[in-house]
Amino acid sequence: MPDPIEPSQVPGVPDDSPEPTVPDLAGLHQPIMVTEVVTHLKLKPDSVVIDGTIGLGGHAAAILPHIPEGRLLGVDRDSASLALTRERLSAFACQLHLLQGNFADLERLVPPEFKPTEAILLDLGISSWQLAERGFSFGTSAPLDFRMDTRQALTAADLVNELPERELADLLYGNAEEYRSRRVAAAIVAARAEGPVTTTDRLADVVASALGRRGRIHPATKTFQALRIAVNDELGSLTRGLEAAQRLLRPGGRLVIISFHSGEDRIIKRFINDSAHLTKVNKKVIQPTRAEQRANPRSRSAKIRVAEKQAAATEPRQTVTDS
Ligand SMILES: C[S@@+](CC[C@H](N)C(=O)[O-])C[C@H]1O[C@@H](n2cnc3c(N)ncnc32)[C@H](O)[C@@H]1O
Repeated sequence: MPDPIEPSQVPGVPDDSPEPTVPDLAGLHQPIMVTEVVTHLKLKPDSVVIDGTIGLGGHAAAILPHIPEGRLLGVDRDSASLALTRERLSAFACQLHLLQGNFADLERLVPPEFKPTEAILLDLGISSWQLAERGFSFGTSAPLDFRMDTRQALTAADLVNELPERELADLLYGNAEEYRSRRVAAAIVAARAEGPVTTTDRLADVVASALGRRGRIHPATKTFQALRIAVNDELGSLTRGLEAAQRLLRPGGRLVIISFHSGEDRIIKRFINDSAHLTKVNKKVIQPTRAEQRANPRSRSAKIRVAEKQAAATEPRQTVTDS
């Protein structure tokens, strides 16, 4: 059965609102800013909700008790995550519809009974479970793959072994702000001259030799992040996903997005600011409390932005100053 989570400490959450619950995800993935997400989705008992990155269902498990007469569509690119979530959320089976796909294609994927939608959540990146299990990290030796959807052809090994040095450097800088990108790209090109770089530990060693080791963060962190973003076209998907979300929302509907690095946040901030259909809800980004950051170090870089679909495209734009 789902375990109760900490009661809300967010102003505006009514005391009598159902207490969010999460299934036993211990050790797999800790959902981030659950109370803040649930509050800002502005759920009603019959809300139609899309979780475009359902992952292991942590946020979905907190949302479902708030929509006893509603339904939730959960989308994820990763079929293994969906299989786990189907099992974990089996208590909500009659309200839940799960689909494998990219949220960039939401409009095509969403069944008619989920249109229009009252609330859409995008919690970007990958789950802790994927990081540990799917070769996304340098802690173990795994094939250099990094695909969220294994039906796709392109892998990280293709990029590492085939991209010209200059393009590799641009990818590392553009996707993860690796400011020593040229040095890393040169080291990779030198290493692959001796044979293809096909495993995570070999790539991690190549980058560590090029940059040296300083501090607790592995020197290959940004290289891995940049490759993962490229393999999955995460920034392109985000732009298309935001466009789809704004079209799917009904007037007054809410879009809540959790991002983890500045490249994503810049796209989201600009999209909301430039949209003729969305109004910014939070002037400043919402960040985890110190307590959450201590309890879940992965939450430290998380930022939430919230937007609401306007009643009509011609309504005046909001002019608040952003953070
Ligand atoms: C941070 S995890 C979400 C965790 C989830 N909110 C939870 O509480 O369990 C991000 C998930 O989004 C999926 N994902 C990332 N980009 C996606 C995309 N463009 N379309 C669909 N799913 C995506 C990943 O496979 C991963 O399962």
